[in-house]
Amino acid sequence: MLRRCRWRAFFKFLTPTLILFDDFPVLAMPGLREVVVIDNGSYTIKAGVSGTYGSPTGTKLPDGVLRALIGRHRHPALLTMPNIQAIYHGHSAFRRRGILGLRRPIQNASIVNFDDVEALWTYIYREDLELPPSSHPVMMTDSPLNNPQDRSRMAQIAFDTLNVPALNISNTASLALYAYSRTTGVVVDAGEDVTHIVPIQHGIPIRAKTLRIDIGGRDLAESVAFSTGEVLHVARDILAKTGYVALDHRGEVEVYRGGRGRPPEGVRENYELPDGSVLAMSDPPFMAPELLFQPILRGYNSPGVHQQVEACISSVDTAIRQELYSNVVLSGGSSLFPGLPERLRKEMSLLVGNEGKKSVEVVTMEGREIASWIGGTILAGLGIFESMLASKQEWQEFGESIVHRRLDAAGSG
Ligand SMILES: *[C@@H]1O[C@H](CO)[C@@H](O)[C@H](O)[C@H]1NC(C)=O
Ligand SMILES: *[C@@H]1O[C@H](CO)[C@@H](O)[C@H](O)[C@H]1NC(C)=O
Ligand SMILES: *[C@@H]1O[C@H](CO)[C@@H](O)[C@H](O)[C@H]1NC(C)=O
Repeated sequence: MLRRCRWRAFFKFLTPTLILFDDFPVLAMPGLREVVVIDNGSYTIKAGVSGTYGSPTGTKLPDGVLRALIGRHRHPALLTMPNIQAIYHGHSAFRRRGILGLRRPIQNASIVNFDDVEALWTYIYREDLELPPSSHPVMMTDSPLNNPQDRSRMAQIAFDTLNVPALNISNTASLALYAYSRTTGVVVDAGEDVTHIVPIQHGIPIRAKTLRIDIGGRDLAESVAFSTGEVLHVARDILAKTGYVALDHRGEVEVYRGGRGRPPEGVRENYELPDGSVLAMSDPPFMAPELLFQPILRGYNSPGVHQQVEACISSVDTAIRQELYSNVVLSGGSSLFPGLPERLRKEMSLLVGNEGKKSVEVVTMEGREIASWIGGTILAGLGIFESMLASKQEWQEFGESIVHRRLDAAGSG
């Protein structure tokens, strides 16, 4: 299948990762119990079985990548007809968008419709994992500033409806950092609806210093849709194929204004529409991604991502600042634009100046759009993970308190 091949291509470059937790005396061990890892984002839900570490094939791909979409018929009368499904999931819902009402159950990094999310999870177990949920412990992801009620509700669905034997809920940002074989750093997680900036020390996110910018891939795609007049999913594709971040935005704009308007080597400026016609874009391809650095371009009153990362690092304990500056880690689908890492590093270095000789390093990896999922499989493969699972029995005995036991970095609240 096309979808799977695409993931595979990213993974060619990924070598199996082994983490040595500095504070846990445990090594990654092959042959552990397999765990289902589900990373549910606003755009796609990634799910797969961990536990292949130490195997010759190394890192595994998610077995399923599902658009986080649910479709239901707009006209209930249709449901009485034969061969009509009441509910469609992911891509099959999207393909039928003309006749279905579509809903996005996960928005702005939180769940807005639990019944729909439950339907998506059930579907992914059945169709992609081909496993009953009761067969494996599960690790689910939690967005960095998620509210506690969401966690309880998730646990309730996992234990009471899906009937999983054991559950862990981990922070998406910590997981992304594990994918980079690091336990201390700042994760810039640029997703579909929001971008989170999360400082992490020894694997533990510092929640009180976590920042959130309400800009993500969707906003960038909307801006392309606006300037091209194309519908959102075409705009998204245009953005993915042509978008890049200029190292010197003002200079690049000058070049375009100067009339030649030629993009740098290797960058496409024309886009071929599904019908074969070629779209000449009025806005240069670096305009939409620039929103991440200059939200004001679209009227958002928020500092740019570079200013937020700098503000975030400046707010943490001085003792770990330099380590954070040299470990700015990218994750999420909206972090893939060519030029983004270089620009982020440049802008941050300008902000930091020569003060204390701080050096900024922005670290990237192949497959970073699913860094959280990869990190999840790595954590699930560690011996220590067994002790991080809450069992069904504990759930029945202690209720939701078991999913609120949360570690936080010392002294940072
Ligand atoms: C998500 O955030 C956007 C912009 O911040 C807002 O317009 C929208 O209403 C929010 N959606 C939900 C479901 O909270
Ligand atoms: C699912 O994803 C949403 C959005 O990222 C998050 O708020 C929620 O905590 C997640 N829940 C679990 C347990 O996976
Ligand atoms: C799950 O793992 C995380 C570490 O990623 C840990 O903080 C948490 O306490 C664990 N337990 C549960 C029940 O989520």
